[in-house]
Amino acid sequence: MATEGQKVVLITGCSSGIGMAIAVRLARDENKRYYVIATMRDLKRKDKLVEAAGDAYGRTLSLLTLDVCSDESVKQCVDSVKDRHIDILINNAGVGLVGPIEALSLDDMKQVFETNFFGVVRMLKEVMPDMKRRRSGHILVISSVLGLHGVAFNDIYSASKFATEGLCEGVAIQLLKFNVTVSMIEPGPVNTEFEMKLLTDVSKKEFAGADAETLDHFRNCYLPTQVNLFQGLGQTPEEIAKCTQKVIESPRPPFRNLTNPLYTPIVALKYADETRSLSVHTFYHMLYNLGGVMNVSVRIMKFLSGGWLRRRTISPI
Ligand SMILES: NC(=O)c1ccc[n+]([C@@H]2O[C@H](COP(=O)([O-])OP(=O)(O)OC[C@H]3O[C@@H](n4cnc5c(N)ncnc54)[C@H](OP(=O)(O)O)[C@@H]3O)[C@@H](O)[C@H]2O)c1
Repeated sequence: MATEGQKVVLITGCSSGIGMAIAVRLARDENKRYYVIATMRDLKRKDKLVEAAGDAYGRTLSLLTLDVCSDESVKQCVDSVKDRHIDILINNAGVGLVGPIEALSLDDMKQVFETNFFGVVRMLKEVMPDMKRRRSGHILVISSVLGLHGVAFNDIYSASKFATEGLCEGVAIQLLKFNVTVSMIEPGPVNTEFEMKLLTDVSKKEFAGADAETLDHFRNCYLPTQVNLFQGLGQTPEEIAKCTQKVIESPRPPFRNLTNPLYTPIVALKYADETRSLSVHTFYHMLYNLGGVMNVSVRIMKFLSGGWLRRRTISPI
């Protein structure tokens, strides 16, 4: 149980990746400023987190079941927190989806929104009223650079993150009145199970419904570039956790937080010309005309950034 002065932090999706790294980092804070409630939809997946938390487990870290796609699970989880008191809510749970949209099922698309967007909405509906009443709290959302600009074949995932960014923009304004802060963390590629899950999914799908030319670009241009991007420019979940802690501890937590400075110019490109078409045309050329150049550039950046030394957590298909 949290001791006096400790901040209670509830994090969604802690069975792996970024959620797990944030939970471990905050729970192992040397000054024990945080009491972390790490949640996951299936507690059978807890072992890696428990091992990484070490002796913090049972002291400054406890586990609860929470499926962000279930109203009941969200309510049960928050009800089981002492006095429903949560100082910091970190909405991290998320899923990806890639492929030509004409070949993706609406059910798969709805599942992405159910998790990435409505999952956050469910958490807000349950936690926000208590924070408003107490006139204190900090809500963070692990968004993505893809919540700031769209990328071909990631359209649905990107749309789910755009929706979440829009939601947060509105909520942040309202919550200022109640002394509750909202912050978004916007990583580029991060080497977690996320990409491996996507690649496994892709390897099982035939993408019926997409024309041969589109499929060829998807499989032979987009996918290899993505694998290169993750290996070359991908951050570690620990880097994202460090950035998240910095935002939490900032006296005036910033609203938007890009974690990878290499993506700043890409995001800025969207506003660089009057018609706002420059970014669309640039991405078009990168995908259809400059695929080879892109791959070589990423390899060079990978070499320069020492990425070739990074532990590979994904395997190219
Ligand atoms: N990796 C990247 O490149 C990247 C980049 C930008 C943003 N992000 C965002 O970062 C967040 C974390 O992703 P990650 O990279 O750490 O991927 P990850 O390792 O796949 O972790 C995703 C986590 O979300 C959980 N989750 C999925 N559906 C859930 C549900 N219905 N209820 C509760 N938990 C659920 C997963 O649990 P299970 O084990 O039960 O599946 C897992 O713990 C996501 O929101 C993602 O969109 C990732």
